[in-house]
Amino acid sequence: MKYLEFKNGDKMPILGLGTWKSDPGEVYQAVKTAIDLGYRHIDCAFIYGNENEVGEAVNDSIREGKVKRSDLWITSKLWNSYHAKEDVRPGIEATLQLLKLDYLDLYLMHWPVALKSRITYPTAGSDFVPLEQFPLIDTWIEMIKLQESGLTKHIGVSNFSISKIKSLTDLSGVKPEMNQCERHPYFQQQTLIEYCKGNGIHFTCYSPLGSPDRPARVVKDDAPILLENPTISNIARDHQISPAQVILSWTVAKALAVVPKSVNSHRLADNIASCDITLTNQEIELIDGLDKNYRYIDGSFWAMDGSPYTIETLWD
Ligand code: A2P
Repeated sequence: MKYLEFKNGDKMPILGLGTWKSDPGEVYQAVKTAIDLGYRHIDCAFIYGNENEVGEAVNDSIREGKVKRSDLWITSKLWNSYHAKEDVRPGIEATLQLLKLDYLDLYLMHWPVALKSRITYPTAGSDFVPLEQFPLIDTWIEMIKLQESGLTKHIGVSNFSISKIKSLTDLSGVKPEMNQCERHPYFQQQTLIEYCKGNGIHFTCYSPLGSPDRPARVVKDDAPILLENPTISNIARDHQISPAQVILSWTVAKALAVVPKSVNSHRLADNIASCDITLTNQEIELIDGLDKNYRYIDGSFWAMDGSPYTIETLWD
């Protein structure tokens, strides 16, 4: 396993288990199997609705002596309905209670979007709170306090543009340590990644396989199927590996963290094995050439009629 090192010397395993879309009823076994296979980084979020079960699997693995808490890197994310200053600490406390842990390794602001409290997913424009009312900097300052209080070792953001990261950093003097965003061969995020790397901010790629099981509400009719790309399939055939392994080894080769989701033991094993696969420079360049600037998760669900958010302001 390779690692990304934080300024205080903490090391995050570069490949973690994604748990978005892993249903309760299947995620317990996925996490237990992953830990048995050597995964030491689990990527969670309150909104995934499965943190209770993830926590059971983590705690059972610790109780069974398979792993110590200190061997694990657990990330979770503050949901949009907890952006009000007084809700940030309850947000992490809810997650810690579900996970049955007393600290996180990394806590991220999930989206630069605020919802009214108790709204899980918005169904009307009136469910949103404009950023003028709940400025991201106020939420960020509360997250800094979470780190100071030891509830999380590191803090960062997710789905943040360069301008939003700059604004948090300028106003608070505290840079996010991580930005987690969609990133894969069809959406390579070159400018954002260069900015993050240049500023000492680590980057985690979500939906690295093109999220083939993404919810129907975000699937567009003309969406390309990443795992069927012929260039990737040819490289896979040459190495006798799967297309997913090609994509994951390409991602790891660039020192980017990656959190592929799987609930299947064979695919879990394949995915972690990708860290030990080396592609040639020529193969890496071929995959670099596949960028289509295509987002599978374009955030349009935050830009419904009556919402104060637009696609343009989201990804500014
Ligand atoms: P499953 O959970 O049945 O293994 P992403 O991480 O981009 O969101 O993609 C997750 C999707 O990709 C899930 O549908 C998952 O299915 C599938 N997947 C995960 N690993 C692999 C793999 N090695 N090969 C093919 N599909 C995979």
